[in-house]
Amino acid sequence: MIKVAPSILSADFAKLGHEIADVVQGGADWIHIDVMDGHFVPNITMGPLVVEAVRPLTALPLDVHLMIEQPEKYIQDFVKSGADVITVHQEACPHLHRTVHQIKEAGVKAGVAINPATPVEMIKEILADVDLVLFMTVNPGFGGQSFISSVLSKIKTCSKWAEERGLNSLFIEVDGGVNRKTAALCRQAGANVLVAGSAVFGTDNRREAIDSIRGSSL
Ligand code: DX5
Ligand code: ZN
Repeated sequence: MIKVAPSILSADFAKLGHEIADVVQGGADWIHIDVMDGHFVPNITMGPLVVEAVRPLTALPLDVHLMIEQPEKYIQDFVKSGADVITVHQEACPHLHRTVHQIKEAGVKAGVAINPATPVEMIKEILADVDLVLFMTVNPGFGGQSFISSVLSKIKTCSKWAEERGLNSLFIEVDGGVNRKTAALCRQAGANVLVAGSAVFGTDNRREAIDSIRGSSL
């Protein structure tokens, strides 16, 4: 089953509650929340307060993507705010194994993300320890960028590893430039969670956008 996770980065923040209700109604599976610190990436977005504000609005899992330095410092805050999945960047974690286990011990699912230029081998050793791997198909920092298709071969390699090692419940997530066309390529490569910001919030018909990304409207 393919999950679609609309990224609220592209939502209208002045009416965030309404925007979330709209994608929930439109069939979203998870809500993706992009946290940026102006250091790891060249943009500043939201923090635990926004996660806390979103939490009572939906029963869907809140998928928190930390694009921040020293993410280990903030895990407790995001868990308390109501995150269900916390994903950290491999590039931001010199002690990735420790950080991943800190997330799991805090009682939520743990993910690891890699940037487009990071080889897939960088997550090979941690694969059995995580619930989710996130492949960035844009350089993180902003919504609305173009999909970098060379990342597809990394997704294929990772889904092959997962299959060989019997990691059947691993979530393989793709984030950046996902629209109905690129979503099909991601699904073919083995991805099972598709994040979409502008492709969902940039259109009025959220259900149609979500269905087309999931591939269920084909
Ligand atoms: C980018 C963020 C993405 C972003 C995706 O740094 O991690 O989640 O919101 O936006 P689109 O789908 O517009 O590329
Ligand atoms: Zn993201």
